[in-house]
Amino acid sequence: MRITLLPGDGIGPEIVEAAVEVLDAAAQKYNMNLEYDRQLIGGAAIDATGHPFPEATVKSAQAADAVLLGAVGGPKWDNVEPTLRPEKALLGIRKALGLYCNLRPIKVSRFVSHLSPLKDERVANADLLIVRELTGGIYFGTHNEAALDENGVETASDIEIYSRPEVERIAKFAFEAAKKRKGKVTSVDKANVLASSRMWRRITAELHDKDYAEVELNNLYVDNCAMQLVLNPGQFDVILTNNIFGDILSDEASVIAGSIGLLPSASLGDGTGMYEPIHGSAPDIAGMGIANPLGTILSAAMMLRYSLNADAAAAAIEEAVERVLAKGYRTPDLAGAGLTKVSTSEMGRLVAEELA
Ligand code: IPM
Ligand code: MG
Repeated sequence: MRITLLPGDGIGPEIVEAAVEVLDAAAQKYNMNLEYDRQLIGGAAIDATGHPFPEATVKSAQAADAVLLGAVGGPKWDNVEPTLRPEKALLGIRKALGLYCNLRPIKVSRFVSHLSPLKDERVANADLLIVRELTGGIYFGTHNEAALDENGVETASDIEIYSRPEVERIAKFAFEAAKKRKGKVTSVDKANVLASSRMWRRITAELHDKDYAEVELNNLYVDNCAMQLVLNPGQFDVILTNNIFGDILSDEASVIAGSIGLLPSASLGDGTGMYEPIHGSAPDIAGMGIANPLGTILSAAMMLRYSLNADAAAAAIEEAVERVLAKGYRTPDLAGAGLTKVSTSEMGRLVAEELA
C-alpha cells in the first residue's frame, strides 16, 4: 500500500516520523506492506519550489492509497501573496483529491479529561463526530480581495455557495455515520439569515425523510450550537455542517476533550483519503522534540481503518495509545505530577513497542 507522507511545517516532520514508527510496527504485526513517499507541502514547499502545493506532491497524493499530513503554516510565510499562502496547499489538496467530507471525532480520554476547561460532569459523556463539508462554501467561493469600489471605499467580499449535490453527499455521509453510532444527526446552519443555509436545511430534511427516517434529525443555528457545545456536549452524536461552521465548531469542540493534541481527523472523498491531526504547526515549539504525536498516530489509525481496510491494525494502535497513557507516559503538554515526561520520538517508540 502506498502512502504519501506530507510532513509540512513546524512540528509536522517530528509528529509524522513518530507516526511512521507506529505504522511500521503495525505493518510488521499485521503483515502489511506499506510504502512511503515523502513530499513537500506548505511553507516547506514554498521555500524549496516557490509553490505551497507543487505538482510532484499533487501527483504523489493522487497515486497513493492514502495521505498522512503533519501540519502547514507558520509566521515565516505570513506575508506571502494570498494565493501562495501555506494554507492554500491544504485547500488545494482537498480539492485535488475531492475530499469533500471531513470527519473530526471528539472523544474524551479519561487520561486527559481533567484538562478540559469544562466541569467533569459536563465532559463525562461527550462523544461526538463532526462531519464538516470540506470542498465547498465560502472557503471555495469567489474571493474578491480588498479594492476600492465605485465610491472609492475599500471593499472586499467572499461568496458562500453550495449546490444540491454537494449538500446531498455530505448529508448522506452524516446519516450513514449516525447509523453506526447513536443514531442522531444535528444539522447546523444559519437558516434564519442565509439562503445557502435554508437550502441546506431543506435538502437535508428531504434526504432524511426519504432514506434515513430511522435516524433522529435536529437542526440548530450555529450560534446556538456553539453555546450548546459547552453547556451540554453530551447531547450530540453527529454534527453535520458546512465548511466554515465546521472549521470553527471543530476547534471549539476540540478543547472539550481536554487536549487538542490527541485529536485525529480524516478527509474523505471518492478516492484517496487524507489524514491529519486537528492541531496546527505550532512553530513556537518546532524542532524541540516536545510536540505531542498522538493526534497524528491516531490519524494513522483512522487511515488504516478508512483507506487501507485494516480495522484490526487501527484498533490495535488505538489500544496501544490508551495503554501507554495508562502507564503514565506523557509529552510535556500533558505532563503532571506522578507522570513520566517523554519526548515526541520516545512517545512514538513507546506506542510502537506497546503495539508489537
Ligand atoms: C483546518 C484549518 C484549515 C481550514 C486552514 C488552515 C485553511 O483551520 O483544517 O481546520 O480552515 O480548513
Ligand atoms: Mg480549522
